[in-house]
Amino acid sequence: MTRHRVAVIAGDGIGQEVVPAAMGCLDLVAARHGVDLDWRHLDWGSDHYREHGRMMPVDGLDILAEHDAIFLGAVGVPDIPDVETLWGLLIPIRRRFEQYVNLRPVRTLPGVRSPLAEAGPIDLVVVRENNEGEYSEIGGRMYHGLPEESAVQEAVFTRRGVTRVARYAAELAAGRSGRLTSATKSNGIVHTMPFWDEVVREVLAGFPDVELRSELIDALAASLVLHPARYDVIVASNLFGDILSDLAGAVTGSIGVAPSANLNPERRHPSMFEPVHGSAPDIAGQGVANPVGQLWSGAMMLDHLGHPEAAAELTAAFEAALASGVRTRDLGGTASTAEFTESVRKIIEESA
Ligand code: NAD
Ligand code: IPM
Ligand code: MN
Repeated sequence: MTRHRVAVIAGDGIGQEVVPAAMGCLDLVAARHGVDLDWRHLDWGSDHYREHGRMMPVDGLDILAEHDAIFLGAVGVPDIPDVETLWGLLIPIRRRFEQYVNLRPVRTLPGVRSPLAEAGPIDLVVVRENNEGEYSEIGGRMYHGLPEESAVQEAVFTRRGVTRVARYAAELAAGRSGRLTSATKSNGIVHTMPFWDEVVREVLAGFPDVELRSELIDALAASLVLHPARYDVIVASNLFGDILSDLAGAVTGSIGVAPSANLNPERRHPSMFEPVHGSAPDIAGQGVANPVGQLWSGAMMLDHLGHPEAAAELTAAFEAALASGVRTRDLGGTASTAEFTESVRKIIEESA
């Protein structure tokens, strides 16, 4: 038995529904591959905030550091400002553990219809810079309540930060189609984006077999809707990658199926696996959330922990469940979270 210590934060809203659903399937598939997932449940999130005034304990990040991976649902609730909940848990984890790559694959899944009439087969990966860029604490609010009231938000792009994410994306593209799209906005954002372009180009000079195309984010967003099948690896800044990954997920059928891996590629720190979607307060508590994004994130975690066969088996199981016609409401079906999960469990159990 190979044992891995995994910290679990189900968090808020549908996180509380899709995380346990995915864990049951992960345990089943792991056991069949001689893997023991030693889960440590961490009761952190908005309820913890209401009780203690913090999303996680003061030493929360030190506790997480003792684990091989982190499995997260989502955080965020309507009655607490997002800046408290997200900057109190999600973003500090990504930064402290240098999870500078947010890998967000998007694929056409069997039995899942794209809202587009002719999407074609989609198989792309958004490589989102995850530690800097537009997400910064630098800035401020001024002249509160006065006519001059204003807000300033700085974006920070470092040579080190852009280089490492561009290199990761180039290596990924080299192992796939050899095509890399870089999302930019150097026509309108005159300091950071030309710098992004320059550094990406410099990194790509070391990858003569990878063809680089820089596309302006506005046109790229439109093109992803019109021609999603043309894209393979897309490297993007923190904010652009965030937006593109929801968009691309929705184009394949639903953001409920989209997974993500917040990676520390050097493996000096734990990586974190969570769906692209949030806590979905509009459907939370109804038992109808799609667990595929969480399951697929779990498969990415198994792969990262060194168990590609187990990951493939889990992926095949949720794909088979979808293909059989069992689908949640977001995909036009009627299955509950529990019914879909049960169907995945059965497929794993029966595939002896
Ligand atoms: P959301 O992703 O939670 O929901 C957007 C829409 O997609 C909703 O209509 C929702 O019902 C639907 N949806 C999302 N996941 C689904 C699933 N698994 N199955 C079926 N339908 C699904 O985005 P939002 O409503 O903008 O954000 C809600 C809260 O979540 C906010 O507080 C936000 O900041 C937070 N959030 C957290 C994370 C995270 O923790 N990583 C990510 C995104 C948003
Ligand atoms: C995501 C989320 C977060 C992000 C928010 C909730 C801060 O949208 O993980 O995609 O923008 O990174
Ligand atoms: Mn997002």
